[in-house]
Amino acid sequence: MQKIAVCVSGGGTNLQAIIDRIADGTIRNTEVAVVISNKKDAFALERARNAGLPAVCVSPKDYPDREGFADAMTSIFREYNVELIVFAGYLVVVPGRIIKEYRNRIINIHPSLIPSHCGMGYYGLKVHESVLAAGNKVTGATVHFVDEEADHGPIILQKAVEVCEGDTPQILQKRVMEQAEWKILPEAINLIGEGRVYIENGIAHIK
Ligand code: GRF
Repeated sequence: MQKIAVCVSGGGTNLQAIIDRIADGTIRNTEVAVVISNKKDAFALERARNAGLPAVCVSPKDYPDREGFADAMTSIFREYNVELIVFAGYLVVVPGRIIKEYRNRIINIHPSLIPSHCGMGYYGLKVHESVLAAGNKVTGATVHFVDEEADHGPIILQKAVEVCEGDTPQILQKRVMEQAEWKILPEAINLIGEGRVYIENGIAHIK
């Protein structure tokens, strides 16, 4: 049974998709061991509690330095025997020590087709504003392994979504979530849980 930690900062719709796909058997052989947020009032924590999951708040602001925050996070990961860490709308710059310790065991969902419209400062509606400003006719979402750079590690899954005439950033965000994020994040978790994802020369492959 693959134990995952889901790290969140906001509304938690991607967390909810994971919870729902585990409940309906789409994601097999996986359990959410703990949900961690840097925001104590994140609705994602409410969703975790409603689902009967351990929900904890660990904020970098509560620690004197990055080392203290890293210690707190890794002690939770160890306490819950976490094998895979899922960033689902997690707006925290993770200490490099954690990325090293959990190399290729941390994944992130980003609401664009990386390497477009990503990197520092590209999060939430800003991503969709950038897509619309560029006049893209197609956008989408990406699940990737997390490395030391923002939105940069090996790409596991992507799904394209149409940009429609008259889209606002909010309309586009909703379509990308519904048609892409909430599908490929659970799919990636399931593939990893089944041992079907491997990395060769920096490229992620699915067997
Ligand atoms: C999603 O758009 C996700 O792609 C991005 O942040 C947003 C989080 O939304 N990383 P939610 O908290 O899962 O609803």
